[in-house]
Amino acid sequence: NPTVGLVGWRGMVGSVLMARMVEEGDFAHFTPVFFSTSNAGGQAPDFGVDAGTLKDAHDIAELAKCDAIITCQGGDYTKEVHPKLRAHGWNGYWIDAASSLRMDDDAIIILDPANRSVIDSALADGKKDFIGGNCTVSLMLMAIGELFRRDWVEWVSAMTYQAASGAGANNMRELINGMGALRDSVADELANPASAILEIDRKIAETQRSDSFPTQYFGAPLAGSLIPYIDSQLDNGQSREEWKGQAETNKILGKTEQDLINIDGICVRIGAMRCHSQALTIKLKKDIPLVEIEQALKDSDNPWLDVVPNDKPESMARLTPVAVTGTLNVAVGRLRKMNMGGEYLTAFTVGDQLLWGAAEPLRRMLAILQG
Ligand code: HSE
Repeated sequence: NPTVGLVGWRGMVGSVLMARMVEEGDFAHFTPVFFSTSNAGGQAPDFGVDAGTLKDAHDIAELAKCDAIITCQGGDYTKEVHPKLRAHGWNGYWIDAASSLRMDDDAIIILDPANRSVIDSALADGKKDFIGGNCTVSLMLMAIGELFRRDWVEWVSAMTYQAASGAGANNMRELINGMGALRDSVADELANPASAILEIDRKIAETQRSDSFPTQYFGAPLAGSLIPYIDSQLDNGQSREEWKGQAETNKILGKTEQDLINIDGICVRIGAMRCHSQALTIKLKKDIPLVEIEQALKDSDNPWLDVVPNDKPESMARLTPVAVTGTLNVAVGRLRKMNMGGEYLTAFTVGDQLLWGAAEPLRRMLAILQG
């Protein structure tokens, strides 16, 4: 059995990954070694196998004993430890949820339902660094990857509605605290059906703008509002999250400068828990009939894709964060041609950013390594 080092298994993405690995019986196929940044020597977690004690996540010699390492510890850990491990001569597989190595020439972005052939040729070339994609990019490709595979796509505009979980566990708590604070601030008025709605509204705005409203993690009120900026500010006017759309999609699909697909849009944080949604405008290379597009998506080799008919009851039942959250399903719907013409397709998609957006591609990469 190969030895697999697990780092950052206790955090939110790591916990989702561990739960999925238990669900799929992954631990039967390798010998796990659990690493810790804070509790080396302590008891390793019990995921159905006795894994002994926790090892120090900064102990290069100990890490170097692993055939593969999966880390959800975050970008700073990767930046510190990965170069040291490689300098130490370690030649194992590094599977990482963080973005730090993603755009390196030697790194492959993993999303096997969309780029298994890219992964396979990288393995054949002896590549060793396999990095999970940005959640928004991965979920977009889980939804419309088949359209790229058929080479139907000229460009995509993705307008996003991103969940709190993408920013972290504390951000999710802040969102709920904000929702509670809003409700609490008008509890008396809500209890009285005769109270004036504009008075309730005034109090809500006052609560959102007050210094005591929770904004520590997001930096702006999110509950009952939205934040039209995700990640850092770049010089070209894009946010880093927006920049990733084109950069990562093309890298995942193995595109070069010559066949590059333009992808752009505005990334927005909204008050959902862990599902990222995206409104897509897709410029097709030619006017492909809608029924053919729907059929292509249904026939695609993607058992997780839920193609939702473009009608109101189905969209409300199946195409929402509440419907999709906690599942591996990625829903795509609202498919129709736009007023701009037959080459302009619109679509709406929803996916769990902790599952396909983060944890799932990592455990699947490990399974690919094991053949
Ligand atoms: N950057 C994403 C977000 C999550 O903030 O929603 C990580 O891919």
